[in-house]
Amino acid sequence: MAKRKGGAGKGESWAARVIGFTGGGRWLIYLSMALSALSSACSFVPFVAVYLVVADVVAVYPDFAALDAARMAGLGWMALGGVAGNIGLYLAALLCAHSAAFDAEYNLKLQIVEHLGRIPLGRLEALGTGRVGKVMDESVGAIEGFLAHSLPDMAAAFTAPVAIVVLLFVFDWRFGLAAVACVVAAFGVEAAGFSNKAITDKMRRHLVNQERMTNATVEYVRGMPVVKAFGQTAESFGRLSAAVRAYTDLALDVALFWQSLMPAFTAIINNAYLFVLPVGIALGAGLTGGAFRPFALDFIFYLLFVPSIAGALNKMMYISEDSMIISSHLSRIDEVLGIPALPAPGPGAARVPERFDVELDGVSFSYGAEGEKGAPLALDGVSLTVPEGTTCALVGPSGAGKSTVASLVARFWDVSSGAVRIGGIDVRDIDPDVLMGCVSLVFQDVHLFRASMLENIRMARPDATREEVVEAARAAQADAFIRALPQGYDTVYGSEGVHLSGGEAQRVSIARAILADRPIVVLDEATAFSDPENEHLIQKAFERLMAGRTVIMIAHRLSTVAGADQIVVIDGGRVAERGRHEDLLAARGTYARMWERYAQALSWGIGSEAPNGREVA
Ligand SMILES: Nc1ncnc2c1ncn2[C@@H]1O[C@H](COP(=O)(O)OP(=O)(O)O)[C@@H](O)[C@H]1O
Ligand SMILES: [Mg+2]
Repeated sequence: MAKRKGGAGKGESWAARVIGFTGGGRWLIYLSMALSALSSACSFVPFVAVYLVVADVVAVYPDFAALDAARMAGLGWMALGGVAGNIGLYLAALLCAHSAAFDAEYNLKLQIVEHLGRIPLGRLEALGTGRVGKVMDESVGAIEGFLAHSLPDMAAAFTAPVAIVVLLFVFDWRFGLAAVACVVAAFGVEAAGFSNKAITDKMRRHLVNQERMTNATVEYVRGMPVVKAFGQTAESFGRLSAAVRAYTDLALDVALFWQSLMPAFTAIINNAYLFVLPVGIALGAGLTGGAFRPFALDFIFYLLFVPSIAGALNKMMYISEDSMIISSHLSRIDEVLGIPALPAPGPGAARVPERFDVELDGVSFSYGAEGEKGAPLALDGVSLTVPEGTTCALVGPSGAGKSTVASLVARFWDVSSGAVRIGGIDVRDIDPDVLMGCVSLVFQDVHLFRASMLENIRMARPDATREEVVEAARAAQADAFIRALPQGYDTVYGSEGVHLSGGEAQRVSIARAILADRPIVVLDEATAFSDPENEHLIQKAFERLMAGRTVIMIAHRLSTVAGADQIVVIDGGRVAERGRHEDLLAARGTYARMWERYAQALSWGIGSEAPNGREVA
């Protein structure tokens, strides 16, 4: 069974791959399996001892005084030794297995984290951080549990039926044959199920469906406010109802398939004595007097002993199921590890930019899979240059490709053709860590961690001192409201009663970027959030952040755009217009029309706030 292939590929069995995760510790796993097998064998020693005792008793019956007391005591110790060996060896097996399993968990998590650092960040986003988190938690946890418990149990489960059959043969080969017939019949039934490829595929899909249903349920519950606000029902929440339906359909199929096999299997293994009984009756019929007594003893003993086959075979059934679950976890891990890493510059080939101008040179980009023909271009031959220390604003309708430009500068993705250069060096030739040190990103959505405000800002530069953090917060106009929190900078975000407004959270993220102090800053609709009372402060914070840096800014509000050194209008993945505010107004093109509408909206008197950023962005 251990040879069955998982969805893992690479031609290796899933068991070999799982064991492979332990790295140098794999001998511990083998040792644990051996110990567990021995422990399982030990569990039969008491049976043997009891058999020998009973045989002696029957032999001397009714003259019990003739019993050899020393031999009886010896057999007693033997039984006890078997029990002690069974328990002790199993504990030792678990000890070895757990130690190897923890190593494997550590290795695997490290491998995944390192891999995540090398794949395009955009791909990680597309995969969903929740999904990745689940792989890290559940799938890696399942591998750990499999190594720590299932593998040693598996060794025991395989040993037990073998030991039982061997024992039966040693005492009387005819009964042995009867027992083998029972095992073969049980396996036959199980094999009939598991060799049916259609049904094992269904079982695998069933596991996937189960997970989809769980995910959809969680999503549904999380989205409850929206669901309620719009008066939707669970039924109308399509993803959930589809997931539940898919789950039910397949669950029924699988259950109906096993409906006859499962009881047959259970009936066979739980009635093993039915195989032994006819053999006993047939053999016993011809015996008389002196020959009958030892035979009867054997027979009764066998009838009592043979049911232990049930326990052993039952375990094997669970293991088949375990193996299926583990191979689905493996394929989920492979899904993450299988994302191709961004090609990194070879050692020695990496270059370090000395200037920090940004250049897009004939950049085309498609979100479609590599080499996929006909995938729509998100960017189509975009060229632009942002000289060092200047500000370039990207404007254009929603879906035009503005965020795509921003993400290519930070190398969330690699261009399909053309090049992105920083200081004249292709970002693909810059070491990823160095590139990270060049570009700060500030988005509209600010993620704050459940940590102190100090740590929340310091994550931008872990070696920053407290003073540096405070200084950055001050520059970002965040110092005052942080000090006003119950424990000031040591207030844990998300702890009771601690909440920040959108504008405050935004200023924390600006403080991060100021602390990070990277020469290039990319702002993606970061200014859209501002609530009116904070607006002036946020504006000041952005001014501090942008001063002296190369800035690429995507803004809803044209008032923030007007002062940029250069405005680039993107439409349908292409550059539609470019120039300074005055030039673009004079050109009376797309930008001029956008500005007109914007100015109109402002004059409608909602203060300095645009009525709806979407319209003008
Ligand atoms: N992660 C993604 N996967 C696939 N398509 C995407 C992804 N992000 C954006 N797109 C598509 O690329 C195009 C440009 O999007 P985007 O750069 O986000 O536009 P903007 O920021 O100007 O609103 C759109 O058609 C959008 O649907
Ligand atoms: Mg965008």
